[in-house]
Amino acid sequence: MRKLFRYAGKYKIYLFLAPILIIGEVVMETFIPQLIAQLINMISKAEETAIDMGEMLKLGGLMVLMAFLSLGFGAGSARAASVGAMGFSRNLRHALFEKVQHFSFKNIDKFSTASLVTRLTTDVNQTQNTLMMLVRMAFRSPVMFIMAFYWAWRLNPSLITILLVAVPILIIGLVTITRLAYPRFRVLMSKYDTMNGSVQENLTGIRVVKAFVRETFEKSKFARSADDLMDAQRRAEKIVILNGPLMQILMNGCIVAVLWFGGRQIVGGTMELGDLTAFITYITQILMSLMILSFLFVSFVMSRASVARILEVLEEVPDIETPENAKTEVADGSIVFEHVDFSYTGTEERAVLRDISLNIRSGETVGLIGATGSGKTTLISLIPRLYDATAGRVLVGGADVREYDTAVLRDAVSVVLQKNVLFSGSIIDNLRWGNEHATEEEITAACKVAQADDFVRSFPDGYETDLGQGGVNVSGGQKQRLCIARALLKSPKVMILDDATSAVDTATDARIREALRTQMPETTKIIIAQRIASVMDADRIIVLDEGRIVDVGTHEELMQRSDIYRDVYHSQQKGGDE
Ligand SMILES: Nc1ncnc2c1ncn2[C@@H]1O[C@H](COP(=O)(O)OP(=O)(O)O)[C@@H](O)[C@H]1O
Ligand SMILES: [Mg+2]
Repeated sequence: MRKLFRYAGKYKIYLFLAPILIIGEVVMETFIPQLIAQLINMISKAEETAIDMGEMLKLGGLMVLMAFLSLGFGAGSARAASVGAMGFSRNLRHALFEKVQHFSFKNIDKFSTASLVTRLTTDVNQTQNTLMMLVRMAFRSPVMFIMAFYWAWRLNPSLITILLVAVPILIIGLVTITRLAYPRFRVLMSKYDTMNGSVQENLTGIRVVKAFVRETFEKSKFARSADDLMDAQRRAEKIVILNGPLMQILMNGCIVAVLWFGGRQIVGGTMELGDLTAFITYITQILMSLMILSFLFVSFVMSRASVARILEVLEEVPDIETPENAKTEVADGSIVFEHVDFSYTGTEERAVLRDISLNIRSGETVGLIGATGSGKTTLISLIPRLYDATAGRVLVGGADVREYDTAVLRDAVSVVLQKNVLFSGSIIDNLRWGNEHATEEEITAACKVAQADDFVRSFPDGYETDLGQGGVNVSGGQKQRLCIARALLKSPKVMILDDATSAVDTATDARIREALRTQMPETTKIIIAQRIASVMDADRIIVLDEGRIVDVGTHEELMQRSDIYRDVYHSQQKGGDE
């Protein structure tokens, strides 16, 4: 919590104000029983001495005044605490979001998207609520305890000994509850992750789910994670609620004891009735303050799990970062792989790429084919440094990719990923992701190369057409062409198309390749495709199999010597997808 506190920023002042105001409230609240005691004492002695009306009115007036002051302080404190805690969580979310933006793919893989979402929402809420309680109750309770104890002591020191029995029992009970509950709350939060993961995956893939009629399966999967969450919640709450009965027993026990011993003192004439009433109020206040402290404790335990999860994100070191004195210029579009190995897990046995060596000239067009899972996407991900090679080096423009400013490198290496996304907004907004200062002519030119200009103009709103969330308004092939145009707008030195025309018809696909060749002769082009037709006119074609390069050559060469290549070619000739 302390580590997080600096995120309070300018809202710190409110978080300091809240406890100060609440102390005012408590001072008033603990003083009122004194006045009541005096009143009752006066009344109970009415038979012996006449009641002083003036004195009574003075006491009554003072009580009303104190009640109002207490109200004012309390309301002010509640407001300050809310403003402070909300401001804090706003800042914290900002910091988390900012941090996540710096994450590499590997960092994100590690947490999972769903878990990051839970951490930014549920965990921050939990922390915010605790902070709100903390700034009010953590001060209110001890001050109330001290004040009530002081007044009770002054009224009757002998009765205080009752607390010597009650308080240790309470503390032992609370510590036990907390110890047991904490691990259960950690489990609870991870169940939230699982459930959010299930919801998120289902919603992003809702079209696929429906197409494959997997609704029933998805429903039962969700039901399972919701049930798991309920169980985890039950297990955690089961411990926490023991708090209530423990408090009740102690509270009532103390009151009975006070009445028992205090009653005897009244009969014996050593205590006055009003003092006993006030004493009961004080003992209630003392135990109440301890109970609230215990709630605070529990809430603290709950949010300790959340705080830990938030800190994990904030303290995660982005594994791909711009080095000091980074290169800010990519010389050309040449690419070299030197004995590159790669594994997502970092372990050698599960390597996805093995001993890849390649030498691609600037401006060359290279085709990359291989079965699904052979490592094509992984291989090209190393070029813009979406991941770092596990062994060996990747060079772009003659320098190791780890020496570049990542922003510069990624501007120079434009990738149209297999799973590409458009964002909500108009077509032109989306294209400007490639280059926010692009002129209309540049945008049109890029769209012409990507064979997108015609269909965009055929829409009633043209380039201003709203894409809807994730680009649902355009067909798969149109989306792919927009993604290519967006990538082209970066005027990259290396252009990578990862199966980026899979949903485009063959004729259009050929026109895109033709336009790329004639319009961007300087740019190195790497084309991953399932169709041989998409790569056959490339300068060289790389055949990848189970993470190894098995052959490199032109279409004609490969037709002669590569069995794999010839097999794929023939299978596609025989009414494959051509
Ligand atoms: N983010 C990831 N984490 C772990 N394994 C992955 C990840 N992405 C891909 N893989 C694994 O790496 C292998 C190669 O995948 P990929 O490069 O996507 O193949 P291709 O693009 O040729 O179909 C596959 O076995 C796949 O399961
Ligand atoms: Mg792939």
